[in-house]
This record gives sequence, structure tokens and C-alpha cells, in this order.
Amino acid sequence: MIDTALRTVWWEDQACHLIDQTQLPTAFTVVRCEQVEAVAHAIRSMQVRGAPAIGVTAAYGMALAAQQSDANTSVALLADLRQAQALLNATRPTAINLAWATDRMLTLAQQHAASTPAALRDLLLAEAERIRDEDEAMCRAIGRHGAALLRERHNVLTHCNAGGLATAAYGTALAPIRTAFAAGTPLHVYVDETRPFLQGARLTAWELQQAGIPLTLITDSMAGHFMQRGQIDCIIVGADRIAANGDVANKIGTYTLAVLAQAHAIPLYVAAPTSTIDLNTSDGSAIPIEERAAAEVTQLAGQQLAPAGVMAAHPAFDVTPHRLISAIITEQGLVQPPFASGLAQAVAQAEQARQR
Ligand code: MRU
Repeated sequence: MIDTALRTVWWEDQACHLIDQTQLPTAFTVVRCEQVEAVAHAIRSMQVRGAPAIGVTAAYGMALAAQQSDANTSVALLADLRQAQALLNATRPTAINLAWATDRMLTLAQQHAASTPAALRDLLLAEAERIRDEDEAMCRAIGRHGAALLRERHNVLTHCNAGGLATAAYGTALAPIRTAFAAGTPLHVYVDETRPFLQGARLTAWELQQAGIPLTLITDSMAGHFMQRGQIDCIIVGADRIAANGDVANKIGTYTLAVLAQAHAIPLYVAAPTSTIDLNTSDGSAIPIEERAAAEVTQLAGQQLAPAGVMAAHPAFDVTPHRLISAIITEQGLVQPPFASGLAQAVAQAEQARQR
């Protein structure tokens, strides 16, 4: 059985390390990033992916940028950090956790601008470690809050990978599943393969299998069939960004599932830490949707599938309107519709907890 604390991203021996998710499940390899540029590449190429995991990785990227910098005044160091933030923020636009983390790192540096560069470097590394630790703690709390939802609903569908690999450890959508299963709830998870990047088939199926949790892998287009036959009791997905009104950006195909869920009166739960809530974005229409290479659609593992030269679209995320969401599971507890006040309260509580 897998160690549920399996680390996805960590700091060791002066560098950021991460599990290379492009190689799973056939190979388990670790990437070592010694420079912020390598961190940016790892995020862009999806060696590390999942909103919370790329937030943690970006925080380490900022810490690395500070270590790399030869600035001998804090003013010069802050300028280098701003450059690093621009580089990291440009890698993937949809998941707010990334900008949330780099902003938190830069703000801390600005607050301590009177410190020496050496002190700032230590402070930033400690903050990145704190962001990693907080992320794991938030995931475990999401597990505790969400597990109760599964007491009577044992057949769960999930999309993409919102497991330990998508976070510092333990996962968001998979957290209630892990916690409920560990407490003896007899669960069965339907895993959407999640075309085109196959996070479900490659990563979620691997994680659940390692944890000994029963699963059935299905192609995305099978979800409606299993709902119609009464074989799915609820859906849990993660989120890349939650707007202030509760609209949720998540992996492409989530919206389709939400519409199907409504048609079959099946609850759809979104599990996410408060670092995924973006109160500055009023609704889902303002969330930038990452467009990835068409080749990820026309090819599979380097093998051409479609006729050469065919035009293909690849929006990596879609937006599910809040009216299709039954509840949002955060580390602060369950947020129920109407979401606006509950989300604002959860963010404020998380902020207060951090100040303590
Ligand atoms: O493109 P990806 O693999 O980074 O997309 C990941 C997702 O959409 C996840 O569902 C989301 O980030 C939540 S991860 C806890």
C-alpha cells in the first residue's frame, strides 16, 4: 500500500525535486531543478501539474531564484524576484495557486526589504517549505470534511487527477476518498481517462491502485452511460480556480460531467484548498483558459492519430457554472450554495489561521 504522504514536490540538497508525472505510470523518476528556469520548464511541460502542486513548485522556484541571484542589496534581490515571478506566472495561466504562491513569496520579501540579502534568501526558502507543509495539511483537512459526504454514496466518479500527485501530498478530490476508505467505507471509484493528457488513466488509476482503493477506468464518453444506469452516486473533482461567485475552472470535460450530473440528479462536489479561490475574479467568464498544443490532441505518446495537418483545438480547462455545483469542500469546511459569502468567509478564516 502506498505511503499516503508520498511527496510530489520537495526541497533537498539545495534544489527543488519533483516526481516526473509525464513518465508515470511506466517509470517513476525524479527531476532535480537547480534553477528557476528549470522549475518553469517543469511546470510548462507538465512534469509537475495540478493546481496546488504547481503553486508549491513555483514557491520553490522563487526560493531558487533568490539563491541563484548574486544581488548584494535587497533592492537588487527584489528586482530579480520580480523577474522570476513573471517567468513562473507565464508558464500556465489558469490555476490561480501558481500566482497565489509567487505573490505570497514576493510580498514576504517586500515586507522584509530592510533585511540583508542573505537573510531574505533564508526567509524565502522557509516560506516555500511552509507553503508545501500547509498544502499537505489543507489536503488532509479536505479529506476529513469531505469523507462524510461519501457515507451513503459509495460509487464515486472523478475526472483528471486531483490526487497526491496534483498537490504537495494526499490530494484534493481524492482526499475524501482516501479518508473515507481508510475509515472502512466500501468505495468504488470510476476514473475518467481524461483525454487528451490522460491524467485519469495514467495518474489517478495509478494512485488509487497503489492505495488499494477499488476503481474502474472508463473513457470520458462513458460517464453518461454509467450515470443513466444508476451506477454513480456522486462526482468529486478538483479545481484550478474558483471565482468569487463559485464558478469553477477545472480540467476540460468537467462542465460536460456537471451537465450530465444535473440531468441525473447526482451531486457534484468540488474539493479545493482556499489557495484555489480567487476572490478578485468575480465569475468564471473572467478566468483565462490555457490553450495547449494541438499536437497533444492529434498525437498520443508521440504517435500520430489524426490525419497530418488537421486542425485541432485544445482548451485545457472549462468552466462549470456555480449553479451546477452541490458543495465546495475546502480545508475550512464545506461551502454550500449560494457560494459567494461562504467562499469569502473561508478565505478570511484561512488568512487568520496563517497569521496565528
Ligand atoms: O492540466 P493539469 O493536469 O494541471 O490539470 C489539473 C486539474 O485540472 C486538476 O483537477 C486541478 O488542478 C485540481 S488538482 C488538486
